[in-house]
Amino acid sequence: VYHTPEEVPEGNLPDCAIAIDVLRATSTMAAAFNVGAESIHVFSDLDELRTKSDACPADKRLLAGERGGAKVEGFDLGNSPLDHTQERSHGRHLFMSTTNGTRCLQRIQQAPVVITAALTTRQAVVNFVLQQNPAEVWLVGSGWQGDYSLEDTVCAGAIVHQLAAQLGSDLKTLAGNDSAIAAVSLYEQWQDSLLELLQCASHGQRLLGLHQEEDLKYCAQLDVLDLVPIQSEPGTLVLNS
Ligand code: MLT
Repeated sequence: VYHTPEEVPEGNLPDCAIAIDVLRATSTMAAAFNVGAESIHVFSDLDELRTKSDACPADKRLLAGERGGAKVEGFDLGNSPLDHTQERSHGRHLFMSTTNGTRCLQRIQQAPVVITAALTTRQAVVNFVLQQNPAEVWLVGSGWQGDYSLEDTVCAGAIVHQLAAQLGSDLKTLAGNDSAIAAVSLYEQWQDSLLELLQCASHGQRLLGLHQEEDLKYCAQLDVLDLVPIQSEPGTLVLNS
C-alpha cells in the first residue's frame, strides 16, 4: 500500500497496480461504467483534454473536470458519481481530469495491469485480483496534493482485509509493507461507520463545505457495484469484461 502517487518508488512497477480515489474520482469512474459509459480518457492537463476530446463526436463525449472539488467551468460535468445516469452517460466517452485521481493513474500507468478501486467496487476488485493471481499488487491512494488521505487508506485496507480473509492468509504474509497493515487496522476500526470516516476526512470536510453530502453517502457504500474499470492503454479505462 502506498498512500499517495508521490510515495510510489521509482523503478519497476508490479504486475498489477490499483489506483484508489474514493472521494471521488475512482468512485465516479465506477458509477459511469455502471450506467454504460464506453470509455474514460484521463488527462492532467485541461487544454490537452479539450484538444483530444475534439476528435470525438459531440454527441458521444462528455467532458468531466474537477479542481479543488468544484466543477471546471465550461465542462459538462464535475466529478460527482451522482452525475452519471443512463440518460446522460450511456454509450458516452468521458474525457476526465481531476486534482489527484488523474495523477495517481498516471503514476502507475506503465504497470502491465492497471485497475481502479473504490469502496463501492471493493469485492469486485478482490475477485479480480484473486482471479489474476499476480505475484505483486500495489494499492495506491491518490491522497490530496501529496498528503495522506483517510478515505483512500481505508479502501486499501478494506481490499487487503478481504483478500486475506478469502485467501485464508495471515496478514503478515500477505501485506507487502507496514502501510498495508496500518490500512487494514484503519478499516477494521471503521468498517461499520465508513460514512463517518469520510465525514472526518479532510477532503470529506472540503466536499461538505461544497454541499456534496450526497456524494459522501454514495462513496461510503461498500461492495455495491460488481465491476472493475481497467486500463486498455495508458490514460484510457474501459470496463473489464
Ligand atoms: C481528485 O482527483 O482529487 C478528486 O477526485 C477530488 C474530487 O472531485 O472530490
